[in-house]
Amino acid sequence: MITIDLQGIPVPALGFGTWRLRGDEARTAINTALGAGYRHLDTAQMYENEAEVGQAIRQSGVEREALFLTTKLWRDDLHHADVLRATDESLRRLGTEYVDLLLIHWPNEAIDLRETLDAFQEVRTQGKTRLIGVSNFTPSLLAQALDHVPDLTCNQVEYHPFLNQQTLLELVRKHGMMLTAYSPIVRGTVAENYTIRAIAETHGKSPVQVTLRWLLQQDRVAAIPRSATPDHITANLNLFDFALSEDEMDRMDALAENRRLINPDFAPAWEG
Ligand SMILES: NC(=O)c1ccc[n+]([C@@H]2O[C@H](COP(=O)([O-])OP(=O)(O)OC[C@H]3O[C@@H](n4cnc5c(N)ncnc54)[C@H](OP(=O)(O)O)[C@@H]3O)[C@@H](O)[C@H]2O)c1
Repeated sequence: MITIDLQGIPVPALGFGTWRLRGDEARTAINTALGAGYRHLDTAQMYENEAEVGQAIRQSGVEREALFLTTKLWRDDLHHADVLRATDESLRRLGTEYVDLLLIHWPNEAIDLRETLDAFQEVRTQGKTRLIGVSNFTPSLLAQALDHVPDLTCNQVEYHPFLNQQTLLELVRKHGMMLTAYSPIVRGTVAENYTIRAIAETHGKSPVQVTLRWLLQQDRVAAIPRSATPDHITANLNLFDFALSEDEMDRMDALAENRRLINPDFAPAWEG
């Protein structure tokens, strides 16, 4: 496994996404993922599956300390008192005393970012999260957040071969952070691309595996593909017996355009 060092904490660069997994499907998928060897899980209050994530962790028998667990607070819960309350609610549902990474799920311009970040720091001081970070922050919003709290560790954003995130990557690397790529396999549709298919054939791998490998070979990039299909869960972790050449990395880089899958009406103005 490739790991990313975040303030001395080794984070497995390949994690397991859980959006849209609920109930038994969530428990089964997360259990399968933990059994296959994933040790980095991504959830959020908005996914309404934190209880299932907690149950699956306990059922799996994997030690809590062996896991890197991320959750996110929704954008309505970013005032100081709401951050403290919502974090406690997440911990209760997850059945754990701490998460490893707590994120602001989406920025909310109606709430002072400094107030939210101060509350996040308080939660960290209380030991309820080891690291704090953000999600869906544009480069200028991330710069603002870093001005206030220089030791933020993560920006989780949409990132895949068809979306250019170069500006954000440079900022993240400059600050020793991690960029976590969500929707990293474009919902499984990367196989439609000729270049990715051709590179995959060269390695005897699938287009999804080549896409995940491309992400993980980039400095300080993590990826959190989601799957409810056991064969996919295993295959998505099977990335460490091959490597892309510099030329293959360049050919994948050249696919970048501005194709976004996630663009809700409350998203901050895109800085492409
Ligand atoms: N911070 C945010 O605002 C935000 C937004 C979106 C997502 N996320 C996080 O990122 C995670 C991943 O993003 P995502 O769920 O949008 O999309 P994704 O991981 O790019 O794609 C998931 C889809 O790909 C399919 N798939 C998975 N492995 C496959 C394989 N090997 N071959 C073919 N198809 C495959 C899955 O179907 P099967 O189930 O059949 O495998 C599923 O339909 C989320 O679950 C969530 O944790 C965060």
